[in-house]
Amino acid sequence: MRIALAVIGGTGVYRMTALEDLETRQIDTPYGSPSGPVRTGLLQGQRVAFLARHGERHSLPPHQVNYRANLHALKQLGASRVLALNTVGGITERFGPRKLACPDQLIDYTWGRSSSFAEESGSDVLHVDFAHPYTPLFRHRILAAAKATGMNLVDGGCYGVTQGPRLETIAEIARMRRDGCDLVGMTGMPEAGLARELGLEYACLAIVANWAAGCADNGEITMAEVLDNVAAASARLLELIAELIRG
Ligand code: HPA
Repeated sequence: MRIALAVIGGTGVYRMTALEDLETRQIDTPYGSPSGPVRTGLLQGQRVAFLARHGERHSLPPHQVNYRANLHALKQLGASRVLALNTVGGITERFGPRKLACPDQLIDYTWGRSSSFAEESGSDVLHVDFAHPYTPLFRHRILAAAKATGMNLVDGGCYGVTQGPRLETIAEIARMRRDGCDLVGMTGMPEAGLARELGLEYACLAIVANWAAGCADNGEITMAEVLDNVAAASARLLELIAELIRG
């Protein structure tokens, strides 16, 4: 099947209701089951695949997502380009709540996740180049699509990926800031590395849901605040995706 774009939805983005001619695929992979069915459908006459990273009812926490199965399933279906939506907290000034960003770097603080397709004994060791974790040309196309639709998309930034599922301490965020992180989330890795291993084009559209711990004196971070800000920030997401596949 020719898939123009695969989208992996994060917290607060569980469906792409605008897709027409919807088909649902339950896909099995050598790495187990993906987080849920892959829905494919038409957007402007082009086939788009959608997978909810945490499951359609948000039943999988970040450290229990089967990232390998998710990416393998999309590849099996015929996708070559994956747009990852990641709900994140903002650390530095440019990345406040309700902003959308297209980071160009990441730092991986996760542990204990299946982070390579070469983990099984007997498989060839893979040392993929990962200097630029997001496909540069694909990032540029996303930024151009945002510009064409008049949307504000922050260009660049470093996404620090934590293990979760708890949020971070103030000291952890202060350390991440010193490390050079602008954004913090729990799902950016190993997904990006696995996509590279599979030879998929991959980029992240980060949806800023809150200020990270200690970055503003706004008290406790609640799930209600997170979901509210994701909904507001995602309002024009479909327009961006439509422009992206048109271009
Ligand atoms: N930290 C980690 N992950 C997140 C956050 C956060 O503050 N907000 C949304 N996802």
